[in-house]
Amino acid sequence: MRTPLVAGNWKLNKTAAETKVLIEEMLPGLEAVSNVDNLICPSYLAIPAAAEMLKDSKVALGAQNVYWEEAGAFTGEVAPDMVAEFCEFVIIGHSERRAYFGETDESVNRRTKAALAHGLIPVVCVGETLAENEAGKTDEVVSRQMRDGLAGLGITSADQLVIAYEPVWAIGTGKAAYPEDASRVIGQSIRPVLAELFGDEIAQGIRVLYGGSVKPSNARDFFSEEEVDGALVGGASLKADDFIKITEAAA
Ligand code: PGA
Repeated sequence: MRTPLVAGNWKLNKTAAETKVLIEEMLPGLEAVSNVDNLICPSYLAIPAAAEMLKDSKVALGAQNVYWEEAGAFTGEVAPDMVAEFCEFVIIGHSERRAYFGETDESVNRRTKAALAHGLIPVVCVGETLAENEAGKTDEVVSRQMRDGLAGLGITSADQLVIAYEPVWAIGTGKAAYPEDASRVIGQSIRPVLAELFGDEIAQGIRVLYGGSVKPSNARDFFSEEEVDGALVGGASLKADDFIKITEAAA
């Protein structure tokens, strides 16, 4: 059995001071739910403050990106051991990184390897655009992102990796995928590739989240799908009540 994971991607929102307020608002409600893991991913500069608040809690902390080099002349980048000093997880290859910051399957692969080498758990995001979806290319695109993004990782246990299936057209649009469609893509194009890459047993244990307009009103429908092991939540993770309700729905 895979323990559900409800993760919040706060994107470019909340200063360090605002982060503290939001954590204070949501922490008691999250702590009250058992059998569900939580993760929040605030902005880099809010991470040290968040780490201090979350250190004795069940809520894990993650960054939204990481560079693959360990040190050197790479102005503006953040190295894996800098992230690992405070965080357990790191989101890699989010569709906004792919769309606005030139992220490719190759750079996703480099970041993912670097994260693993420093003991971070990558949350690798895959998902098709609207045009790809309408052209019937969803499975082709998602399985390519999986194969190329995760090539040569050398994972030895299922808890080293999390996958998030996020159809690009569902992110921030209010228009979520149908839960049964998300489950089908995971069952046909994600878990089989995990099995190819890491073997059946590890593939069965890796958590695959759905992301894209998850909210309290639709969360339960996603979590009742056998292949959906939790959610990567954007907008609704910035509202304490909503994030708590989504976590409760996963329990
Ligand atoms: P959303 O974002 O929940 O606001 O659609 C999800 C994500 O980008 O991870």
